[in-house]
Amino acid sequence: MNTSHVSTRAETTEAPSLAGMRIVLGVGGGIAAYKTPDLVRKLITKGCEVTVVLTEAGSKFVTTHTLSAVSGNQVRNELWDEQAERAMGHIELARWADLLLLAPATADLLARLASGHANDLLSTVYLATTAPVVAAPAMNQAMWVHKATQRNVDQLHRDGIEFVGPEVGDQACGDVGPGRMSEPESIVEFIEASYNQPKCMDGLKVLITAGPTREPIDPVRFVSNYSSGRQGFALARAAHRAGADVTLVSGPVSIQRPEGVSLIEVQTASDMKNAVMSDISNYDVFFSVAAVADYRPVSTKGKKIKRHLECSGKLVLDLEETDDILRSVTQLSSRPFVVGFAAETHNTIEFGREKLQRKGLDAIVVNDVSDPTIGFESTENEVTLLYPHGKCAFQKQSKDKIAQSIISTIASLRKSQSISGIAHS
Ligand code: CTP
Repeated sequence: MNTSHVSTRAETTEAPSLAGMRIVLGVGGGIAAYKTPDLVRKLITKGCEVTVVLTEAGSKFVTTHTLSAVSGNQVRNELWDEQAERAMGHIELARWADLLLLAPATADLLARLASGHANDLLSTVYLATTAPVVAAPAMNQAMWVHKATQRNVDQLHRDGIEFVGPEVGDQACGDVGPGRMSEPESIVEFIEASYNQPKCMDGLKVLITAGPTREPIDPVRFVSNYSSGRQGFALARAAHRAGADVTLVSGPVSIQRPEGVSLIEVQTASDMKNAVMSDISNYDVFFSVAAVADYRPVSTKGKKIKRHLECSGKLVLDLEETDDILRSVTQLSSRPFVVGFAAETHNTIEFGREKLQRKGLDAIVVNDVSDPTIGFESTENEVTLLYPHGKCAFQKQSKDKIAQSIISTIASLRKSQSISGIAHS
């Protein structure tokens, strides 16, 4: 047998590194837009599907004909294009995207996104998407270092946007300095390094709880907490990209549902427990990210409590403990690989280790919510993953990136656990 022939076949049958990734490319109005047809071609070579959203200013530098020809998809440039809206409206486009790439990201585009404008297709897609966003800035060097631009860049960083470039060098206007858009190869390399999620959960069934629960006091009031659901939703997206069949059981949140994931919406801790336990034996991995209310009112009033009639200056609520969903899962004789989450305000690692043991978990992800930059409402997080014989720390980064790191670490831990024979079933 000709061995060199075998190895060539293996190389050519390997899937491209970004296979199946759906990218919305937002093209701003800068001279660097002339590089976008090449960028689109390079992304397609890596296996991406690309839909271009061309801003009005962008269309002064590159044509819709060129971009539709290279992308193989209709270029979108109008928020008010009825035909396009019928086929795939801006909200569907926002949902369709696995990644929103802004290239070139001009000073004006960054300013509009930083202040939340929604007056053209690209800005509405930006506001409506839950996909990660990467910007490749391009502008004159003086414009890039201007305080106003840097203020917008800081704001967008805080909002979770990642930046690739700009590069330092000769500029079209004759200046030399920072502001050149990164070359298409560097942008593609950045996306590969950041978002090429290996299919480490291929074929696995994954159940994730997310968000807060609401425990009703009366028809208009409830006991709850600050959880936004962002980290659990990011984990659901990352598990889906890693090849898992994902079900997300979520308490009330106001963020976009992830594409490709089954969503079960619940209100109370008891609803969440029922949704989890009804089918738990069919899952391989369970991530308990939800901030389940620990206590609920012993009884719920059927009618609104009237302050003036029923409470003379104070209201005493009788609360009882809710069931610990996580404990209910780990106590099963045959159970999935179980990962808990704990938001702490102090002694984070010690409390995490204690919960790992007390709740019989395979791993626990802990974070310090006393730091407002990584708290419940924030788009960033910094966590430590603890498991019985070790730990991994993930530095401050977007909740999407954290989710991706957690998914690949859990996939390896689960694999080494089953190799060493510590299976639970
Ligand atoms: N959890 C759960 N059911 C509950 C409470 C918590 O499944 N009724 C899960 C959470 O989803 C999380 C983990 O348990 O994965 C830790 O939650 P946390 O509130 O930190 O734990 P508690 O046991 O409530 O500990 P404490 O309030 O003392 O910090």
